[in-house]
Amino acid sequence: MPCLRPRSLISSGPPMFYLTTAIDYTNSAPHIGHAYEKVLADVIARYHRLRGDEVFFLTGVDQHGQKVQQSAEKQGVSPHDFVKQTTLRFTTLWEKLGIQYDSWAETTDPRHKDCVRAILTELRDQGQLYKKAHSGSYSVRQEQFLQDRDRDEHGNFGPEWGEVIEIQEENWYFKLSEHTDWLKNLLESTPEIITPAFRKSELLNALEKNSGLDLCISRPKERLQWGIEFPFDENYVTYVWFDALINYISFAGYKSAGNPTLPDFPTIWSQRPVHLIGKDILIPAHGIYWLCMLHAMGFSDAQMPRLLVHGFWNGLGGAKISKSTGNVVDPDALADKFSVEALRYYLIRDITTGRDAEYDIDRLVMLYNTELANEFGNLCNRALNMSQRFTAGTLQIGSDLTEDDLALQQSLTSTLADYRAAMDDFEISKALEAVNRHVVHCNRYAENMKPWELNKNPDNRPRVATVLYHLAESVAHCAVLLSPALPSVSAKLAEQLRLPHLTTLHLADLKWGLIPSGHTIGTPTPAFPRIVIEKES
Ligand code: ME8
Ligand code: MG
Repeated sequence: MPCLRPRSLISSGPPMFYLTTAIDYTNSAPHIGHAYEKVLADVIARYHRLRGDEVFFLTGVDQHGQKVQQSAEKQGVSPHDFVKQTTLRFTTLWEKLGIQYDSWAETTDPRHKDCVRAILTELRDQGQLYKKAHSGSYSVRQEQFLQDRDRDEHGNFGPEWGEVIEIQEENWYFKLSEHTDWLKNLLESTPEIITPAFRKSELLNALEKNSGLDLCISRPKERLQWGIEFPFDENYVTYVWFDALINYISFAGYKSAGNPTLPDFPTIWSQRPVHLIGKDILIPAHGIYWLCMLHAMGFSDAQMPRLLVHGFWNGLGGAKISKSTGNVVDPDALADKFSVEALRYYLIRDITTGRDAEYDIDRLVMLYNTELANEFGNLCNRALNMSQRFTAGTLQIGSDLTEDDLALQQSLTSTLADYRAAMDDFEISKALEAVNRHVVHCNRYAENMKPWELNKNPDNRPRVATVLYHLAESVAHCAVLLSPALPSVSAKLAEQLRLPHLTTLHLADLKWGLIPSGHTIGTPTPAFPRIVIEKES
């Protein structure tokens, strides 16, 4: 049983927000789907930091398994050297994309291996594991034994299983079937376990089909060496999913009390953690295996993670993005070509969390150029440049407020409320739309107030100051609201506004008046250079 401190004993600090992503398989290089998941997680983590939560964001790589062993063999390098290489491609990309994680999970890390072994031993001692012989059809590609239900309508195993071979072997099994009734009840009684809600019925159906089956969690070493050796049976390594899923607790300090290089597990796991995963690994890995594994380890219902299931980026027309179809999109090249900001913005703006989207470079360029370069960029330029030119960079309310001013302030208030509600529900695109609504409002306000006309008459100076204050105050607010999505631009705007506190304040501090009266801003430079696509002749 994990030793968990009740929440009430540690409630003095801010709420703990423990967020993980799937750990990416290091069989090949990172693709756009990996980048999406990491950016989405980064935006969610940064938003929670902005809320003032105590955030622990864990991501990493999945380094064991048959496919890694095979790819390494093909290249004539050791699996160890192979995963070192591919892992570096992931870490380099995350650094480039500004993914700010608090801890990094690699499944070859000795701390992780120790944890997996400790769990195996404990589960065996509790009678949760047994060894038995099994003969049947085995998919080399999917690294699993197949059941009759995996056959197609002609009774064959389809191409998705790759090479299927008949094998007989003895293996270790986890008594999954002892936990499925509990899981069914949990899912029925605790809807927040799965987001979006429509995934719950899929999972319940899968559970129905799976009933009575246990999970094979070992692989004989004759077949696979590249894995975590069983602590009590040296002829076996651990099944890659059983190993990989445990990263969510091993790197959170589970079973490692006193190890100063790992966090304090009861603190990290004091609230229901959020596991961000793609739709393809809900069933059976996370939705069935993982929840049942945690239950077998003694985690309570209140400690079960929340599975936040995102959709897929597909090619145009819904085509699957895969190496075999040759349409893998390299996020590293995209960031070089269009900028990190444009890529981050696109990946979270043009998809509804939980749904699929079609990847389209034209939309990437269009969304960046419209909402950032033209709309927000224009607002920033107007606010900062006109302030420099008309009021020597000094901002203050100079005249009585008009209905237009109050309407602008009202627009900001409703944007704030909509933004918060959307972000709390992981609806990033909706939150960005709310920010854009206010930006559009501000640009219309500027066009109606025409400070550039007003300024021609010196009597209007107080009114010009008021208008510019409203625009600049809006820029300051939007810079904060956009900081989870576009942290570097946001920091740049804070610097131009000479308001360093914008980068450290909390969401609750966002109130009208971020800019003190009489404050002088710095030199403006364009925050969002337009993307210009050179037409091929
Ligand atoms: O599944 N669009 O690793 P992985 C969006 N190692 N997301 C996508 C995607 C796409 N086109 N393609 C993949 C694994 N993903 C295991 C996870 S967790 C204990 C072990 C997502 O590299 C996918 O859904 O195949 C998953 O969440 C993540 O990328 C890593 O996929
Ligand atoms: Mg996959």
